[in-house]
Formats: sequence, C-alpha cells, structure tokens
Amino acid sequence: MKRQLPKRHDLAPLLTFRRPTLSARERRLASALTIEDLRRIARRRTPRAAFDYTDGAADGEVSLARAREAFADVQFNPVILRDVSHVDTSRDVLGAPSALPFGIAPTGFTRMMQAEGEIAGATAAAAAGIPFSLSTLGTTSIEDVAAANPHGRNWFQLYMWKDRERSMALVDRAARAGYDTLLVTVDVPVAGARLRDVRNGMTIPPTLTPRTIADAIPRPAWWINFLTTEPLAFASLDAWSGTVADLLDTMFDPTVTYEDLAWIREQWPGKVSVKGVQTVADARRLADTGVDAIVLSNHGGRQLDRAPIPFHLLPQVAKEVGSDLEVHLDTGIMSGQDIVAAVAHGARFTLVGRAYLYGLMAGGRPGVDRAIEILRGQVERTMRLLGVGTLDELEPHHVTQLARLAPRSPF
Ligand SMILES: Cc1cc2nc3c(=O)[nH]c(=O)nc-3n(C[C@H](O)[C@H](O)[C@H](O)COP(=O)(O)O)c2cc1C
Repeated sequence: MKRQLPKRHDLAPLLTFRRPTLSARERRLASALTIEDLRRIARRRTPRAAFDYTDGAADGEVSLARAREAFADVQFNPVILRDVSHVDTSRDVLGAPSALPFGIAPTGFTRMMQAEGEIAGATAAAAAGIPFSLSTLGTTSIEDVAAANPHGRNWFQLYMWKDRERSMALVDRAARAGYDTLLVTVDVPVAGARLRDVRNGMTIPPTLTPRTIADAIPRPAWWINFLTTEPLAFASLDAWSGTVADLLDTMFDPTVTYEDLAWIREQWPGKVSVKGVQTVADARRLADTGVDAIVLSNHGGRQLDRAPIPFHLLPQVAKEVGSDLEVHLDTGIMSGQDIVAAVAHGARFTLVGRAYLYGLMAGGRPGVDRAIEILRGQVERTMRLLGVGTLDELEPHHVTQLARLAPRSPF
C-alpha cells in the first residue's frame, strides 16, 4: 500500500462542522429517528402518572403487545425495477383528500400529556394535510379546535352518554363548527381495567401527593406548563374529580345498540365512521346499516384485553365489506412500515394514537410535527423500496403476515 501525507485540500471537505442548533427542544427532537425514540424522550419529560396513562393499556396489556408484534411479524416482498422516483402518499378518505394514509386518533385528556394538547395536534395535522380527531373527552373545546384548524379536516369522536340530549348537543356543535366526520366509538360499554392508573393513583386532574411531588422534581417543564396554563378540565363535560375509570362508568351508557347507531346516523349531516369493530360479523352488519366507514380497533388495547388483533382481522374484513364501506384500522401502529402493511392488506386509512402522543409529550407542537415527519419518511421510503409509486398500487402480495399465533380451532 502506497502512503502519502494528507494535503490541506484533501482535509478541507472532511472538516465541515454542522451549525450547532441552539434550541434544546430542536436538538432533542432531531435526535429522535423513530417513534420509539420519541417515546423514550416523552418518558423522561412527563410525570409518571400521565405517561403511564398514555403508554399503558388494560389488564396484562396483551392486546397492545400482540397488535405491535403482528406488525413486526410481517415480511415485505419488494417488486424490483420500477420507476419510483416519485411517490404519492395521498388518498381520498371519506370524501376528501388526506396527504398521508393516516390521521390523528381521538384521545382524551390530551392537555394532561403536555399543555399544548389538542391545539398542537390539530395545527400539526393541518400543516401535514391530514385529519385530526377530537375526543368527547378532549380538553379543548370543539370550537377552539375548529378555530385552530380552520382549513384542515376535523373529525369529532362521540361517546354516547347516559344523558343522550347532552351527547347530541355535542354532535350538533361539531356539525355547526364544520367537522366533516363523526367517529362513533363503540368499544367502551364500561371502562377497561387500566391497572397502571390504579397503581399510580391517577386522578383527573393530577393531585399533589408526596409521590407526585418527588416525581415532579426531574420534570420541571411539564409542571411549569401545567401550573401556568388554563386549568385542566374537560371541554365538553362538567368538572370531574376522580379516577378515569369512575368517570367513564358514571357517564357512559352501556345500553347503546345498533338501533341507537341508526338514530345517531340520522342526526349527523356528514360522514359516519364506527370505531372499535372487532369481528367480521359486526363489520358485515355495519355495512348493511349504511355507515360510511369502520375502524378495526381494540382501542389501543385499553378496553378488552386479549382482543382480536386488528391487523390480522383486516384481510377478512376487507374482503367481506371493503366494497361497501371504507375499512380503517388502528392499534399498535408505531412506524410508517406498519401503515404501509395495513394499506397493502386493504385498509383505506389508519389512525395513530400513541405515536402522536409520544411526540406531543416529547416536545409539544414541534414534537407532533416530528412524529408525523418520521411516519411520513417511513411510509415514503417503504413504498419506494417495495417498488410502488401510489397507495393504490399496494396489494396483499407486497406484505406477508407471518403467524406467531394461530387459533387452534375456527370460531
Ligand atoms: C391516552 C389515550 C386516550 C384515548 N382516548 C380515547 C378517546 O377519548 N376516545 C376514543 O375513541 N379513543 C381513545 N383512545 C384510543 C385511540 O383513539 C386509538 O384507538 C388508539 O390509541 C390506537 O392505538 P395506538 O395508540 O397503538 O395507535 C385513546 C388512546 C390513548 C392512548
């Protein structure tokens, strides 16, 4: 090997230094390359009760673990020698465009995770050209979210309460504020057993105990935000002090049936999507009822534990009702690869819950932007690597679902 002394002009290109980023938040967010990275940052910055409320699921958290595992257990089958210089990640969903095949799922108590709450989610969604869903248990009012996202798409998620008149008053307000879709969540006849919340003594709003104060010391930013912004309250409900499970069980109506759904359908002028579908038979029945979409979901594993895995249910449901209504999916999505896999198996659209909340907890609005950017980059790259230029070109043959778990007998 012949050696030589390095010359100055050889060294110069190697000595380019990146301009330092001044903002600690920007640096923190830029260092996150995956949603899992955002989760780690979120955990460091959020009080334990609020983080666990978001991160946790019901009982043994098996539904959530299985849903994530099902996405990990896919095999992508690339098609080679295609021109993928341009990829188009947009698609029409419920009668209007979305720039990406995912939207933001409805989540309650969002300002408890980080003070910017729903406004961060709605404005980030608008900037990315994707829908934002506001929960009945949101901590920002229907009208304030609409004002923050005047040109974007807002969806309103309805929980049917025992007091029907008050539930329908919310629906009416959402229609008047221009929300284009009503998401009717049907998997909460009673609250799931969120054991982390019980163990943490989680209450809404958080209470100051010696334990929460000790937990606050390494997380000053969260507490400063919490104590210097509007007190945490539900935007659509009266004040509540107690546990989340007690709230759900007091307010929510366990008698809701298909007849009520048909009645709700009549009251709403826009599109209706039913969230929390978990069997092919219910999907069929909803298609016959005439709703516009269903969301295959087990509520991010927060309700019935050991529930069906939405991603595994998807191919059968898409085959059975995919031509009658739109099939959407959530639960367990932690990457753009998961979203591409769902679309390949027949999901018209997906929703992300925790993936965006981890971003919110890691850094407010810029954190949500970062979560969307990470997912967008992963969707685009995976499409290119699979050899597809549009979402419509994605087909089941692109993604094999590998089976770790299989039923012992058909049900
Ligand atoms: C903290 C949290 C709060 C939630 N609150 C609601 C809610 O108020 N209404 C609802 O329909 N779903 C709610 N969900 C469920 C989400 O809409 C969605 O189904 C779920 O988060 C999807 O799973 P993922 O978190 O793995 O993406 C909530 C989920 C989380 C994580």
